[in-house]
Amino acid sequence: MSQLEKVKELIELRAKARLGGGEKRIEAQHAKGKYTARERVALLLDEGSFEEFDMFVEHRCTNFGQEKIKFLGDGVVTGCGTMDGRLVYVFAQDFTVIGGSLSETMAMKICKVMDMAMKVGAPCIGINDSGGARIQEGVNALAGYSEIFQRNILASGVIPQISAIFGPCAGGAVYSPALTDFILMTEGSSYMFLTGPKVVKTVTGEDVTQEELGGAGVHTTKSGVAQFSVANEDEGIELIKKLYSFLPSNNREEAPRKECTDPIARMDDLLNDIIPDNPNKAYDMYDVIGSVVDNGEFLEVHANYAKNIIVGFSRMNGQSVGIVANQPKYMAGVLDINASRKAARFVRFCDAFNIPLVTLVDVPGFLPGTGQEYGGVITHGAKLLYAYGEATVPKVTVTLRKSYGGSHIVMSCKQLRGDINYAWPTAEIAVMGADGAAEVLYAKEIKAETDPAKQAEVAAAKKDEYNKLFCNPYNAARYGYIDDVIEPRNTRFRVIRALEQLRTKQQVNPAKKHDNLPL
Ligand code: HXC
Repeated sequence: MSQLEKVKELIELRAKARLGGGEKRIEAQHAKGKYTARERVALLLDEGSFEEFDMFVEHRCTNFGQEKIKFLGDGVVTGCGTMDGRLVYVFAQDFTVIGGSLSETMAMKICKVMDMAMKVGAPCIGINDSGGARIQEGVNALAGYSEIFQRNILASGVIPQISAIFGPCAGGAVYSPALTDFILMTEGSSYMFLTGPKVVKTVTGEDVTQEELGGAGVHTTKSGVAQFSVANEDEGIELIKKLYSFLPSNNREEAPRKECTDPIARMDDLLNDIIPDNPNKAYDMYDVIGSVVDNGEFLEVHANYAKNIIVGFSRMNGQSVGIVANQPKYMAGVLDINASRKAARFVRFCDAFNIPLVTLVDVPGFLPGTGQEYGGVITHGAKLLYAYGEATVPKVTVTLRKSYGGSHIVMSCKQLRGDINYAWPTAEIAVMGADGAAEVLYAKEIKAETDPAKQAEVAAAKKDEYNKLFCNPYNAARYGYIDDVIEPRNTRFRVIRALEQLRTKQQVNPAKKHDNLPL
């Protein structure tokens, strides 16, 4: 063969590999409203930046006549490229090749990009669309999954790992995404479950559809397994790009700073009047976030799960920040099991990747009741406490209104190494609210009155006394637990200035093998 013929052969082999499972299967994939693996990679990465690995890898299985069913590259497209000019590694399972099912060689390809991502310190993005372990490969497929999981674990907290679920993701295969930092799912065309509807029916007798069992809606509202649900793959790919714009490439770097076009000293008079006079009335914390951050831009994480707490990414003076905020509009912003887990995971992500935390507090306490206690709210609440206490990134806290008892401590108080803690003049930092306190402290005095009208009068007087003494920010400020009481309309400027002050913050936790987070 001449050199020219050899080059021609290479070009032909490449073209063959690019067809994956062939035209027919590509058509079938499109008919389901789904892109192919290569199309997904092309949409994700900057044009012309994709550097593909292992295009000529084939599986080695000889069971069940598999040696006759081979595709160049096998069932996954892997490599690296740039997203907005920044290096990322990517793997996209190719459903057109044996249902994207995972072979030993596919696992090897995925592990190679994960290893490269770790070596150079760049994120790894996985696009999942697979029938799970390739049944014909038996234990070799299982070993392949295990190799991937092991890498997911070692990469956790070192490089950002993002999983897109654009099709089936079932059985043990779900554990790779579950070990990554963020999962996004397409509505109506993706699902994640350990055991499918048929097995569920056999074991429990329950009739359930794939969507009901593990669709995007379920995992972003009920289970909390996935952080984002998107209408379609295009939206999903845009979301990945947006998400990555807030993140550094690895745990030794800081997130890229964007030029800030929003004046840092912009005041918002609306904030001086946002807290209702009636302490039992709600306002919308999204209004506060929108007013304080650069251009009101906020990428919410877990938007539809545990809505009593809000978490997500914004920028302040161009710097990425993680926002954690109680939402008084939903369950009065109370902390419960789900809110604690959601916020704890977010705080730990931000801390692992050097993203400062801005916490906006308006929390009446932990949700009482057997439902919560039996569910282990003590352990789950401790996760959030732990997450804040161990975090060494800059932590700026602003207390807007309520901050009572244990929930006051949990929400990034001074003693959990909050760096700068501000309060609005409307803040109420106390062991509990006036109603509860008056009942505990003055029950005897109130009961001593026989006339109900008199009882109410005494109770009101005692509550008033308690409110005056405790339900304000100055008591905490007197002890230095609050660094300053600030004018609400000036919050943006004060937080930005605090973050600037903390830019060179250095804090190191004691050396240990690893912590023992209350799981
Ligand atoms: C081998 C598979 C496969 C698999 C799909 N295919 N899954 N081949 N191993 N796991 C093949 C099909 O035989 C078919 O080949 C082609 O891929 C396309 O699949 P279809 O069934 O035609 O597609 P669709 O109707 O869209 O259904 C998709 C599906 C279904 C729902 C994913 O294929 C399915 O139920 N697959 C099996 C799922 C499963 O039980 N996986 C094992 C889970 S256990 P042909 O040639 O006919 O077109 C697991 C353990 C992991 O993964 C443990 C890790 C620790």
